[in-house]
Amino acid sequence: MENIDWKSLGFGYCKTNLNVRCAYKDGKWGSLELSDSEYLNLHIAATCLHYGQEAFEGLKAFRGKDGKIRVFRMDENAKRLQSSCDGILMPQLPTGLFTEAVRMVVSKNQGYVPPYGSGASLYIRPLLIGTGPQIGVKAATEYLFMVFVMPVGPYFPEGFQPTDLIVLRRFDRVAPQGTGRYKIGGNYAASLIAGKKAKAGGFSAVLYLDSKEKKYIDECGPANFFAIKENTYITPLSDSILPSITNMSLMQLAESLGMKVERRKVPLEELASFEEVGACGTAAVISPVKRIYDADLEKEYLYGNEPGAWSVKLYQKLQAIQNGDEPDPYGWTQVVE
Ligand SMILES: Cc1ncc(COP(=O)(O)O)c(C=O)c1O
Repeated sequence: MENIDWKSLGFGYCKTNLNVRCAYKDGKWGSLELSDSEYLNLHIAATCLHYGQEAFEGLKAFRGKDGKIRVFRMDENAKRLQSSCDGILMPQLPTGLFTEAVRMVVSKNQGYVPPYGSGASLYIRPLLIGTGPQIGVKAATEYLFMVFVMPVGPYFPEGFQPTDLIVLRRFDRVAPQGTGRYKIGGNYAASLIAGKKAKAGGFSAVLYLDSKEKKYIDECGPANFFAIKENTYITPLSDSILPSITNMSLMQLAESLGMKVERRKVPLEELASFEEVGACGTAAVISPVKRIYDADLEKEYLYGNEPGAWSVKLYQKLQAIQNGDEPDPYGWTQVVE
């Protein structure tokens, strides 16, 4: 697409050629269909509109130096969508159908995959919604799965530059036995107010604590939390956070680089002892954190204005695999023709 300025792309919606759709009816999934419409024709009583039967995913495709397009760990996104479906009583979409849809939509929008070296990538947004009508709180009998794509730049305008997070105890994203481990719209609706307050204060995201005791770190608004101390990669173990595929990959890379990996409860006070802190997710890969402000206790934790050495190493390693610059010994990337 000759008129796209790849280097100045932000993280936002833009129209591309085609999206893929697949309907569930009479107890089974139909075939994949291409659409050039950005709109849906939806029943006014569809359960996605009333009772939040809606789950989504987010993954990326990257153009390599060799010109090939690689999608990162789409099987894991398929599995996580299945888990989200279980969480809100929607029928699971089979992994094969998910990956076929991703391949199809990427292939049909190849011109929108940003060039190697631009820092941009193709963001892939799968979405599964209850379309069948219900009034009275019940699961639908009909569903629609869709995948659309768009070229994106960095999620945080700062890119790999360190950002600030804020702790705001008055807001919870999810409940202790709630839906935090699923990627469903309701969790994000519940995070909008706190997210807006954070941004208004100059912070890039909220750092959520566990909503039961407010003692342990859960995750950042749109990303998992990790910290580094004494050559150890530490990340929270919690039932109410989204199992991040980036975090899962970073844990494996950290081990391969000789680090120790600890997945455990992380008490808030431990922030004072960390050497490096970061947020990780598909959108930003790693966002190093330079400051965490505990707004209630008026206390701050500082980590330096430059990304830490381990964060840089992990970021470069993961990006090298995603771009195809280095061999992919884990089989994380899939080439799309
Ligand atoms: C709440 C939340 N946590 C973590 C992540 C990171 O997960 P992943 O690495 O799979 O993108 C995301 C988004 O992608 C998210 O929305």
